[in-house]
Amino acid sequence: MTPALQSHATQALCRMAPVIPVLVIDDPAHAEPLARALVAGGLPVLEVTLRTPCALDAISAMARVPGARVGAGTVLSAHDAERARAAGATFAVSPGATPALIGACTALDLPLLPGAATATEVMTLLEQGYRMMKLFPAGPAGGAALLKALNGPLPMARFCPTGGIDAGNAGAYLALPNVVCVGGSWVAPAAALRSRDWAGIEGLAREARALR
Ligand code: 3PG
Repeated sequence: MTPALQSHATQALCRMAPVIPVLVIDDPAHAEPLARALVAGGLPVLEVTLRTPCALDAISAMARVPGARVGAGTVLSAHDAERARAAGATFAVSPGATPALIGACTALDLPLLPGAATATEVMTLLEQGYRMMKLFPAGPAGGAALLKALNGPLPMARFCPTGGIDAGNAGAYLALPNVVCVGGSWVAPAAALRSRDWAGIEGLAREARALR
């Protein structure tokens, strides 16, 4: 799948809801009820970060939840992309992009949402065929002001900003013409996961869904 087609696929996913929950799952038993709560709250597109030992099992369990579109996050290498694909991930998200990762996702038919934080990185991804990208780390890199500035010379690039976004500042990002959706962990806080507060997480998802 060419980078252009990958971007087409990730942009369609990013259009499904204003927020992609970024999930760090420590307990495989949390995966299914968490996915059900987020989907019920109106957030069907889920990013499970490959940062915990059970992340791949969590992806497999969540991919079976009706309505869920599950991708892998923190995909750093070709090996990560292969493992994510085998676990059932239908897209991959990376904080950056490397030729090896792009080559692997292209060969695996795994749509990649690659990360960029500067004009040169955005231009490099555009040159490779990616129009849809993640701005990471959105807050520290310059936030909504950076996205506004990038939209001048690079209006063809579309973003899912992630990193430092919460219910309080998501609206400012979502109002920008080059922002398709935002990513964030605030809809699935660690404390709510520990206490298995699925109703609370569904409520946070509902609030996030209403952001746009
Ligand atoms: C991440 O990869 O951790 C994401 O950028 C999530 O960032 P957040 O915790 O600031 O939402």
